[in-house]
Amino acid sequence: MKGRTGRHPRPCPGRAGRRAAAAALLVLGLGLSGCREAMYEQARYEPLEASTFFEDGLSSRPLVAGTVPREDPRGAPPAGADEDVFYTGWNKGRLAEEVPFKVDRELLLRGKDRFDIYCTPCHGLSGDGRGVIVRRGFPQPPPYYNAELRKQPIGHFFDVMTRGYGVMYSYASRIKPKDRWAIAAYIRVLQLSGHAEAASLPESDRNKLTTGGASAGRKQP
Ligand code: HEC
Repeated sequence: MKGRTGRHPRPCPGRAGRRAAAAALLVLGLGLSGCREAMYEQARYEPLEASTFFEDGLSSRPLVAGTVPREDPRGAPPAGADEDVFYTGWNKGRLAEEVPFKVDRELLLRGKDRFDIYCTPCHGLSGDGRGVIVRRGFPQPPPYYNAELRKQPIGHFFDVMTRGYGVMYSYASRIKPKDRWAIAAYIRVLQLSGHAEAASLPESDRNKLTTGGASAGRKQP
C-alpha cells in the first residue's frame, strides 16, 4: 500500500553527530534518549483519510460480508427486564408505564449526568426548554413540567430519544438504551422538582426558600 506522502521518519543523526550531541548532553548532566523510529512517525493513513490505492477511494476497508459484533452494540438488558420494553419503550402496543428494571439513586445520578451532556443544550438544566441553542434560534421545546408532558407515560420519553420527535432528532445512535432509561427517569425528577410543594421539603430546605437565594440580606429600597 502506498503510504502518506509528507510524513517521513525523522532522520537519525550520524555517528559523529551523535557523539557530539551525547557529549553536549553529558555536560548538561542529562542522558541521551536512544534514536528510535516511533510508530507514530511512520507512513500511515489517518482514520477516514482518502486513498488513491483502492478503487473506492477509501483507505479503510469495508467489513467482510456477514461480520457480526461479538456483543450487542445496544448493550444487554439488565437481568429480568423484558427485552422488547427495554429496547423500544413500548409494552405490547402501549407506551411503557414503568422503567423495565430497578430504579435507584445511582441510575438517577447517571440520568442526570447524561441529561446534562446531551439534552441541556436545548432543554436547559431544569428542563424548562430554554437551553443555549434555543436562545440562539433553535425551535423551543416545551418545558418538561407542563401538564401534558407530566401526564405522559415514562415510555414516551424513551421513545422520543429513540426515534426522535418533530424537529428533534433521534439519540438512538448516541445513547444506549440503559442510559436512555436513566435519562427518562431523571426527566421525572425534573418534573417533580418543577412542581414540588414547599411543604414536602425538609424544614432546613424550606427555610432556604425564604432566607436564601440571590436576594438574601437585601432590603427593599
Ligand atoms: C438540538 C436541540 C435538542 C436537543 C439536544 C434535545 N432536544 Fe428534545 N426537543 C427539542 C425540540 C425542538 C423539541 C420539540 C419538537 C417538536 O415539537 O417538533 C423537543 C422535544 C422533546 C420532548 C417532548 C416531546 C413531546 O411530547 O412534546 C422530549 C421528552 C424531549 N425532547 C427529550 C429530549 C431528551 C431526553 C434529550 C436528550 C437525550 C433531548 N430531548 C435533546 C430539541 C432538542
